[in-house]
Amino acid sequence: MYIVMFGPPGCGKGTQAEILHVKYNIPAISTGDLFRWHIKNQTELGKAVKCYLDKGELVPDEVTLNIVDERISREDCLENGGLFDGIPRTVYQASRLDELLGKRDLKISSCLNICVPDESIVTRLADRVIGSDGKTYNLVTNPPPGGMSFSRRSDDEPETVRNRLRLYHEMTHPLVEYYARKGIMHTVDGDRPIEIVSVELMGLIDLLAN
Ligand code: AP5
Repeated sequence: MYIVMFGPPGCGKGTQAEILHVKYNIPAISTGDLFRWHIKNQTELGKAVKCYLDKGELVPDEVTLNIVDERISREDCLENGGLFDGIPRTVYQASRLDELLGKRDLKISSCLNICVPDESIVTRLADRVIGSDGKTYNLVTNPPPGGMSFSRRSDDEPETVRNRLRLYHEMTHPLVEYYARKGIMHTVDGDRPIEIVSVELMGLIDLLAN
């Protein structure tokens, strides 16, 4: 199954993709994580995309689509599907993602839209931390285990978060219509505890699988 995890920055796409990955063994494909891996490892791609992530701007489409094409071609994804987290972010990317899957006779089964109001996003991202185990935590709603050291994402500065939210509303939110027209858009209220949101998403995936 190929599923788009959709919603504004900080709505919990990555958190839920990780939970769903553990439950269903579907690989989570996060473009943000792929870019951050390249930045951390100082690859040429990492050097080229760092300025976009730092400012909360979109990385150019061809760079993004190439990295996704390569990820889809790996065995785990071809065999077990994919939870797309952070892609697509524009209608253009959505149609290109359809093409990348289509050339392998695959397609998106569902778009899971995790709705969270902007006010909650700003608070959540101010409290987001990344633990030394690489996992995402929140100092208020999902604290890292006691004693674990943590860092913050450079794009969680309030001004950058505002830019990311602006871009989401302008460029990404129109995708709701794109997937609704295909009849595969499912919306859940993401402004509830993590476990409650997970249960609802699992219910939707179980329905799709049957
Ligand atoms: P990316 O990493 O994809 O960032 P994002 O889409 O802005 O989403 P986030 O990772 O910030 O949030 P999330 O929804 O995963 O929330 P999380 O689970 O962490 O992209 C980063 C950058 O890469 C972009 O700005 C762009 O530059 C570039 N990029 C990526 N994809 C691209 C593309 N396709 N095209 C071009 N450029 C691209 O949760 C957030 C916090 O809330 C955490 O602290 C978590 O613990 C907490 N939390 C989660 N769920 C709940 C809940 N239900 N209740 C309370 N707290 C919760």
